[in-house]
Amino acid sequence: MDKKIEELKNKIEEAKKGGGEKRIEKQHEKGKLTARERIHFLLDEDSFEEMGMLVTHRSTNFGLDKQKFLGDGVVTGYGTINGRLVYVFSQDFTVLGGSLAEAHAEKIVKIMDLAMKNGAPLIGLNDSGGARIQEGVVSLGGYADIFYRNTRASGVIPQLSAIMGPCAGGAVYSPALTDFIFMVENTSYMFVTGPNVVKTVTHEEVTAEELGGASAHGTKSGVTQFTAANEIEAINQIKEVFSFIPQNCEEEPPSLPYEPADEIRKELNEIVPNSPNQPYDIREVINGTVDADSFLEVHKDFAENIVVGFARLAGKTIGIVANQPAVLAGVLDINSSRKGARFVRFCDSFNIPLLTFEDVPGFLPGTDQEWNAIITNGAKLLYAFSEATVPRVTVITRKAYGGAYDVMNSKHIGADMNYAWPSAEIAVMGSKGAAEIIFRKEIQNADDPEAKLKEKDEEYAEMFANPYNAAARGYIDEVIVPDKTREKLIKAFKMLENKVDNLPKKKHGNIPL
Ligand code: COA
Repeated sequence: MDKKIEELKNKIEEAKKGGGEKRIEKQHEKGKLTARERIHFLLDEDSFEEMGMLVTHRSTNFGLDKQKFLGDGVVTGYGTINGRLVYVFSQDFTVLGGSLAEAHAEKIVKIMDLAMKNGAPLIGLNDSGGARIQEGVVSLGGYADIFYRNTRASGVIPQLSAIMGPCAGGAVYSPALTDFIFMVENTSYMFVTGPNVVKTVTHEEVTAEELGGASAHGTKSGVTQFTAANEIEAINQIKEVFSFIPQNCEEEPPSLPYEPADEIRKELNEIVPNSPNQPYDIREVINGTVDADSFLEVHKDFAENIVVGFARLAGKTIGIVANQPAVLAGVLDINSSRKGARFVRFCDSFNIPLLTFEDVPGFLPGTDQEWNAIITNGAKLLYAFSEATVPRVTVITRKAYGGAYDVMNSKHIGADMNYAWPSAEIAVMGSKGAAEIIFRKEIQNADDPEAKLKEKDEEYAEMFANPYNAAARGYIDEVIVPDKTREKLIKAFKMLENKVDNLPKKKHGNIPL
């Protein structure tokens, strides 16, 4: 027996070495952790249970029979984060470049199936040269097996993907199908085709980092929701997101204990400037309302004219969608609509109540927006809010103009409680624009058109730039002094705790894509 135990121990030792000392050193030199080190930092101490440590590939192509590594380039298993079960796969770049082929994919598929059957989140740590070239089509089959499961699991269990090295070609589509992507600056990149192909086809000269690094995807494409300076920071971000979200679509998100206290927040009375054209940072409103230091922004550097993220209110998780008057006056455009819609749908999938702060002057005009389908993209946000059945509350802090008023979680599309601050302006459009249209002739014929416009502007503003017409119709449930916002929201979400609202029976909706 001793000999057999020794044999097992040797195999475990061998598996743990991955591609060997030299390659591990190379990995560290690049500022990257190994697959096992990442798992160590992600999971609770000693909680990781590995599965398939002794799996090897079955290929003999191109000398692969002489290049067998226990585990086949991916470490898979389950463990806990703050005591909660998660399934993890972590690709090992030191083994055949973390490339994915038949056995490697089978290991990932196995834990995906377990995650689905047991209703627990899946976390993928990606670091791979892509499809294992020597194994050919079985690699492609392996990817498709994963994509299929990512899609089936979407909305059932949360799926989080960290990109901690290369992720190119078909490999990008598994992370793309998951709920959140985390990328590391300078050591990770994602693209469908790399710089060499780009150069050949379009003659553009671009580095991998410029083309598909963390900041390209964090600011330009919006492919990644989180970027981090290093891997430890990315791992901590994953854990932070994890603290807000439930295990699966049938569970409630975790909450923290909360002692009722004085909920009045006087500083909220001072944020909105007197002039409607002056910007302010909506984060001041968010941070002034939610539990101290609880706001975690998602997609922070992308489409900054809308702010989305998780927070806690009286200890409970909420999702926040807020127009940002400090960027482009908080206007809705293609990217901010996409960003908002995706976040709303995540929250609704996983029973996270939604809070909207609204200060929106309308949709961004222009050929660029129209030709790139602001109509379809704006409709995404409208659709996402309209189909959301979680508790939904809106606070209008200032402008709520035009179609954007309807889109931003209005009463008419199913919001449960709609508050407005006295500074709210709920109207078809801004008073000056409105005056220019409806009093055009009168202004043109006036002796002093400028003075006339000013007069009519003020007349329109007096009549409509307030929350009271909407309140008179019940479109606003209550006009509140800003300092009471937190107290009102705590009560409203408590009142909505047992909300039941079902969509009509359907196969699935047809969200404008
Ligand atoms: N299939 C098989 N082996 C692969 C691989 C793949 N897709 N990608 C990388 N490897 C191997 C390399 O052959 C190398 O093996 P070695 O250490 O025995 O020499 C090892 O992984 C490390 O790769 P290396 O190229 O030295 O690392 P790098 O950091 O310089 O470059 C990549 C990383 C991903 C840019 C580069 O490996 C690459 O271009 N890979 C191919 C990508 C691709 O076309 N994939 C298929 C389509 S999805």
